[in-house]
Amino acid sequence: MDLVSALAKELKSQVLTSWTEEEVSMLIETPKHTHMGDLAFPCFRLAKEWRKAPAAIAEEIAESLHSSLLTHVEAAGPYVNVRFNPVVAGREIIKNIITEGSRYGDHTFGEGKTIVLDMSSPNIAKPFSMGHLRSTVIGNAIANLAGNCGYETVKINYIGDWGTQFGKLIVAFKKWGDEEKVRENPIAELFTLYKKFHEEAATDPSLEDEGRKAFKLLEEGDEEITTLWKWFKSESLEAFKTIYSLLGVEFDSYNGEAFFNDKMEAVVDLLEEHKLLEISQGAKVVRLKDETLPPCLIKKTDGATLYATRDLAAALYRQREYSFDEALYVVGQEQTVHFKQVKEVLEQLGYEWAHNMKHIPFGLYLKDGKKMSTRKGRVILLEEVLQEAIAMAEKNIKQKNPDLKDGAKVARDVGVGAVIFHDVKNDRMNDIEFSLEHMLTFEGETGPYLQYTHARARSILRKAGLSSSLSNYDGLDDPASWEVIKKLRLFPETVERAWKNYAPSIVAKYLLELAKSFNSYYGNTKIINGDQQQETRLTLVYAVAMVLSKGLSILGIESPDEM
Ligand code: ARG
Repeated sequence: MDLVSALAKELKSQVLTSWTEEEVSMLIETPKHTHMGDLAFPCFRLAKEWRKAPAAIAEEIAESLHSSLLTHVEAAGPYVNVRFNPVVAGREIIKNIITEGSRYGDHTFGEGKTIVLDMSSPNIAKPFSMGHLRSTVIGNAIANLAGNCGYETVKINYIGDWGTQFGKLIVAFKKWGDEEKVRENPIAELFTLYKKFHEEAATDPSLEDEGRKAFKLLEEGDEEITTLWKWFKSESLEAFKTIYSLLGVEFDSYNGEAFFNDKMEAVVDLLEEHKLLEISQGAKVVRLKDETLPPCLIKKTDGATLYATRDLAAALYRQREYSFDEALYVVGQEQTVHFKQVKEVLEQLGYEWAHNMKHIPFGLYLKDGKKMSTRKGRVILLEEVLQEAIAMAEKNIKQKNPDLKDGAKVARDVGVGAVIFHDVKNDRMNDIEFSLEHMLTFEGETGPYLQYTHARARSILRKAGLSSSLSNYDGLDDPASWEVIKKLRLFPETVERAWKNYAPSIVAKYLLELAKSFNSYYGNTKIINGDQQQETRLTLVYAVAMVLSKGLSILGIESPDEM
């Protein structure tokens, strides 16, 4: 049973007979403080029709509303606050959770629709940055949310493997590179070469020209240069895949920028046909109607294509290939202008579906309050962060639970979970100050705290000798368990809200609250004491473990049974 619709039903049948149940439901609110009640009905909307002050209406409704489900009905100013009978209502709620099982929290409104997510998308020959981590974990959580709402999802890793920078890198490698060294430590070595190129180019501008020419040759398919590029790419992908396997993230496609190399002429032709291209200082551009936006650069003077050209080709391809209902680009906010430009060009081409392309931006990781920059060397390597987090988790486990089986796997789940949660618990637009310490605190509002709460619930069930699911729930009447039950009830609407706002942080915050209410219940109640209500309490514990684990998995975090 859903408490909102239960209350709506009562209100409709007893006082608001001319309304539909839905209209009533829409108005029902959850009071800010639990002492005010479980739900509240605001009476402002009735004032006109009833020709009375909202507070007087609230009094009237409170007097006439009677139900065995409700233990308490009270007017508080313009609101009618109600309290449910925790035994009766709790029974209904828990029964529903147990019946739905692993599907609890899922929705069907997305069925038959496809969401394409452009996410992670690191650049080859460069370290996987914390910014790419954000895109990866936020994108993954949004994809999971979409899946839980019934959508088909396509996760695309649009690898940055094309562009003038690869011309520069190739020039640098040919001038100063050492094949052996690159084989040993590909990303770091290539990145060093790339940085050297920029240092040298500061005093020798002819290098820039050489770089442009090398990229031109790459675009034309020159054999030697293509071989080098392919080698850089395969080395980089291998390194990235180590990270993805640690994070437990998979993709449906790795079609990166280079994949669209042979699909860009068609874009240029299309723009030509629609008479959208203008020549500006020798380059081809599309002028945009939104005057706050700079013209979209399609082709440089030397004929080389650009980032935007490739994104246009990619969008057209994705619409053809997946006929998406929504295309989400989970990319840092510093690319906002770029995505506005791409979208507007497609709109000018007359594509209705361009309206369904959405940039899902996020803030930066800051280091000492400043933006981390690959060029300036203020860069933190994700792989090192992950390894360090895992090592700390391992140390912790060795101290607290040396006999834990599968300790290495649990350490990995906990270390990685800490890094992921540190990211997704923040509203995605917020900047995050990078702090290994905070990330790895295993107390407070962290991933390990949630994992620990889940493991604790599992251990209670284990102690009671219960491994499989429970279904006997008779109802509990203490306030602490009722708080837990009310939190459990909110899970489905939390999932829906998180999806609709593309905001995994909504799930993260929900889980922290659920864990908090469960821990305070657990702290005050002896769950296993052999009395008649033991099984009912265990069923509640089971439901909590199930929802915690499902919520964590939406965020891309594992929930070990023991830790
Ligand atoms: N590789 C780019 C970067 O690291 C991100 C790509 C984002 N996706 C896109 N379709 N442009 O900045």
